Amino acid sequence: MARTQLSLASHLARLESETDFDGWRDAARRLATNDIPPEEVAWQVGHDDDDRGNDLPACRQDARLVVPREFIERAETVICHSDPERFNFLYRLLWRLRVEPKLPRKLESMEKAVWRDIHKMRAFVRFRKIGDGAEERYVAWFEPDHFIVERNADFFVRRFAGMRWTILTPHASAEWDGKRLAIGPGASKRDAPAEDDAETLWRTYFENIFNPARLKVKAMQKEMPKKYWRNLPEASLIPDLIAGADRAATAMIARMPTSPAPRHAKVKAKHWPSPEPADVVEPESTDIPALREEASGCRRCPLWRDATQTVFGEGPENADVVFVGEQPGDQEDLAGKPFVGPAGKVFDSILDQAEIDRRKVYVTNAVKHFKFEPRGKRRIHSKPNAGEIRACRWWLDKELDIIKPNLAVALGATAAQSLLGKAVPITRMRGDVIQREDGLRVFVTIHPSFILRIREHEDKEAERERFLTDMRKVKQLMAA
Ligand code: URA
Repeated sequence: MARTQLSLASHLARLESETDFDGWRDAARRLATNDIPPEEVAWQVGHDDDDRGNDLPACRQDARLVVPREFIERAETVICHSDPERFNFLYRLLWRLRVEPKLPRKLESMEKAVWRDIHKMRAFVRFRKIGDGAEERYVAWFEPDHFIVERNADFFVRRFAGMRWTILTPHASAEWDGKRLAIGPGASKRDAPAEDDAETLWRTYFENIFNPARLKVKAMQKEMPKKYWRNLPEASLIPDLIAGADRAATAMIARMPTSPAPRHAKVKAKHWPSPEPADVVEPESTDIPALREEASGCRRCPLWRDATQTVFGEGPENADVVFVGEQPGDQEDLAGKPFVGPAGKVFDSILDQAEIDRRKVYVTNAVKHFKFEPRGKRRIHSKPNAGEIRACRWWLDKELDIIKPNLAVALGATAAQSLLGKAVPITRMRGDVIQREDGLRVFVTIHPSFILRIREHEDKEAERERFLTDMRKVKQLMAA
């Protein structure tokens, strides 16, 4: 139960729950159309014995109340914030909108905090199996910062439609029986099951995607704050992996042969129009961390709905080269990092052989959300369409603007389409360097997952060699 400013207020607005947006909207409409200022209103969640029974006046039909749609949409998110003053804050904004159309930064920062929490929940919920056969069910314990369970439940329904599951949190629980979603009261960690077989799987997966050479402890803790560690099976590995990372990275560098002086590759240079800038508002961010933060709430196309999180580019801001893939895969979607799954392993090992240090290049994707078709418990990669590529090019353009690389490498058709603004035949253009009107040189090659898909051993090896040759050419071009 939360109540604000009750002693001063002459009107009590009661809400059914912490996230009762319909209740807030109805109360706000009644209050505003009756010209009741914010300081005369107290907001209360639930009912208690000393209720003053202060019913709000009915909405005045003759009063005009125009509220921008944007405010309503954002307020619906902000209502999930844990700040007990949020109901009053939102009503104050609504009141202020009558004379001041600009929304304050505080609204934006509260909205971002809620979205960040929503994304963290998507990324860090770990189910544990209980029961077998008809009794099989998956249960997870999670401790969000805000009241986001109801808001996030549909996502988990879409993602795990074929499983029966429950997510328990201190404030609310969500339960899916395969047909119906039920939101219930909060629970305690003791109600959640302890370890199961899936833990070993998670640990193996995490060990596999953990690349010591790319470890940045601060950045990792920012993405995966320590408070989540206690509920993550893989987290028990983190201290050891961090401790070993320096040693492993030093050894990795020591293994790398020194490179011969680069010779400039002979390449075909063509002039190519730069892609049309996407038809959207310019973002404010001028560095990669800020841009990444902005992209974490991206809604430019519908792919964000089913993906766990935005997978933004990674690498130094002064990189000479930017590698652009297609879109994150299943493992990238969970890890929040580009090229950490099977295609990433092929990519890493060939870069290594070509003596390109992945820590010194920037790696990103044309499309920043995982697009997939659910197939049972699996998620099958689905190719992004032209609209999705175009919508996401906004982020890629910004990444390129900030980094100003010497060269961009298009890994496959989607990346080439994004970088060049039109579909291009990869087999014909492979190995070409195309100069865009803005001066950026784009090297076109295949996507490393193409190698993975080849069945015949000899053909696979031959394709691997060709890709290695391409990467050696990239190495030369980087210095040119
Ligand atoms: N494929 C891509 O194009 N990008 C990734 O990040 C992973 C696989």
